[in-house]
Amino acid sequence: MLELKKKSVMFTGIQPTGSLTLGNYCGTMCSWGNLQKYYQCFFCVADLHALMSTGKKRAKYHSSKKILDMVALYLSCGVDPENNVIFVQSQIHTHSQLYWLLSNFCYFGELSRMTQFKQKSKHSQVDINLSLFCYPVLMAADILLYQTSYVSVGLDQKQHLELAQNIARRFNKLYGGIFTIPRVLINPTGFRVMALQDPQKKMSKSDANVNNTIFLLDDINIVRSKLKRSLTDSDFPAQVIYDPQRKPGVSNLLSIFSSLAEKTISQIELEFKDHQYSSFKQQLSDLVCDRISMIQKLYFSFRKDEDYLIDILKFGKKKAIHYSTENLYKVFKALDL
Ligand code: TRP
Repeated sequence: MLELKKKSVMFTGIQPTGSLTLGNYCGTMCSWGNLQKYYQCFFCVADLHALMSTGKKRAKYHSSKKILDMVALYLSCGVDPENNVIFVQSQIHTHSQLYWLLSNFCYFGELSRMTQFKQKSKHSQVDINLSLFCYPVLMAADILLYQTSYVSVGLDQKQHLELAQNIARRFNKLYGGIFTIPRVLINPTGFRVMALQDPQKKMSKSDANVNNTIFLLDDINIVRSKLKRSLTDSDFPAQVIYDPQRKPGVSNLLSIFSSLAEKTISQIELEFKDHQYSSFKQQLSDLVCDRISMIQKLYFSFRKDEDYLIDILKFGKKKAIHYSTENLYKVFKALDL
């Protein structure tokens, strides 16, 4: 029962901190259904990382309810719980253990250079937790514990993954080939979904303008109206062409279209060669709304059955402990602990 079904491991995780957006979906989640065909996948609910982001508001966010929401959402995106491992990070003690061991192979300087740390600590020096600084080391532990070959992440996490590679290489150089060096998998078109009305910046769940962001659990009529109001560019002739510099609005919509329809940007450009923006937007809206309604339908039906979700996590916990302990033991041995 605990055997791995496929040789190479794919690992991914999301923090259970609130509503996921179309950006999260196009960036990573929409590819999970395909990835599980080829890899043994581990889907982590990264609640230890979420402690860091929520800080003082912890009680509100760090709840089992949010974790179950996330599991239901994973399933709604097509993750098959029987053949993959879905688990909660804090339930697997090996993650925190490896985190500490790896911190001995990671330098202050490299953590200081992490863009996410620099951005988040820019405004105030007073409120910076050590966990904000060390966050990428825990992420490296998550990944390296499972001999992961591939990690599916959004572009914003690429730098953290490179750090995990460096830590693994450094460790391997000293102690032999203990860790598999993970490679990053970034969705070629969906990796950069931008704000609908301000396509110069990323779509974000905390945007002050709600019309910039589509949430996966938004009412469908609201999704339609947000897409309808999305910015298209005022150039002439108004052609559906991908050119992020000159046509950031249309290019953003093309990226969304491409990752949902699984077509290349050029295929879509060709399809809409003689169309107006309005007809392109209408078809995009149908595509997005169909996908979101399907996800929501599944989500609400999975979410009702809490016992089922809890069982999935129990099964995942068993498997995750099994594999990660095996690998942690190798590290202990290497370090003579
Ligand atoms: N840091 C990731 C994020 O905020 C979540 C995460 C935690 C993760 N551990 C991971 C992603 C391991 C990939 C692999 O989105």
